Amino acid sequence: MVEPKKVRFVYRRKLVAMKAIIIGAAGGIGRSLCEKISSAGGEAFLMGRNADNLRPIAEAFGWGYAGCDASDWTQLDQHFSAAEGVLGGVDCAINLAGSVLLKPMHLTSQKDWEDTIRTNLTTAAGVVKAAIPRMQSNGGSIVLLSSAAAGIGMQNHEAIAASKSGIEGLVLSAAATYASKKIRINAVAPGLVKTPLTERIWKNDRSAEASLSLHPLQRFGEPSDVANAILFLASKDNSWITGQILGVDGGLGTLKILPPMR
Ligand SMILES: NC(=O)c1ccc[n+]([C@@H]2O[C@H](COP(=O)([O-])OP(=O)(O)OC[C@H]3O[C@@H](n4cnc5c(N)ncnc54)[C@H](OP(=O)(O)O)[C@@H]3O)[C@@H](O)[C@H]2O)c1
Repeated sequence: MVEPKKVRFVYRRKLVAMKAIIIGAAGGIGRSLCEKISSAGGEAFLMGRNADNLRPIAEAFGWGYAGCDASDWTQLDQHFSAAEGVLGGVDCAINLAGSVLLKPMHLTSQKDWEDTIRTNLTTAAGVVKAAIPRMQSNGGSIVLLSSAAAGIGMQNHEAIAASKSGIEGLVLSAAATYASKKIRINAVAPGLVKTPLTERIWKNDRSAEASLSLHPLQRFGEPSDVANAILFLASKDNSWITGQILGVDGGLGTLKILPPMR
């Protein structure tokens, strides 16, 4: 049996060179990811629309940060340049910007629709577009966030499922386009994770019970469940994985539990 202390040391050594840009770093999953990158010896530059939310996290780790709306590709590209300068290179870009809209299509306004596409799909495409030129010479890893709702039909998820399905298509095509440059592009597709984004669901007894019943492992995700998977895909240890959508969802996206048979 390997002593846990030794395992920690090896992991830290292998990740030590990670230079990551994280968009949406002040959110629930983002905070957990920052802790994991730091304790693995990596370094990150943090972005999100509200710089005040990023400041305490960035200062705690001694990292750079910038307020940036990632749905504005010009702004995003400028901030990637700044981040590249601060980090001295970029080998990993992670987009956590996202939203949730639970409405049936007939109640979804055009603004709801466009906001959902912009916050999820446009930010993801912008991150791929900004990251690629900075990874052309040494390769790299891009991790995007989908959702279990992209792969199964869940009622009232029309706009968010469409935007996350778009991200999955983007992952597959871009992974093929840039494979020859050794740039890996993957996504994580979570089930319901306890973060500020979803607290209206998990803090309400009725909706929490209904949602929990859809997760075969019978618990909601913790931010660290998803952050672990992002780190796995981002890590140079996994340099033979590209074009994958990794479900981290307590079984929501793939399993159906039948009632007991008589
Ligand atoms: N939590 C879940 O159950 C769940 C399930 C499936 C998928 N996901 C996906 O996982 C990702 C992270 O989720 P989370 O739960 O950690 O969400 P969160 O706590 O709301 O964090 C999202 C972060 O993204 C930032 N952001 C939003 N729009 C942005 C934009 N246009 N430009 C830059 N930053 C932006 C927000 O900060 P500012 O407001 O300051 O910009 C926020 O800090 C999202 O893509 C979400 O769709 C989450």
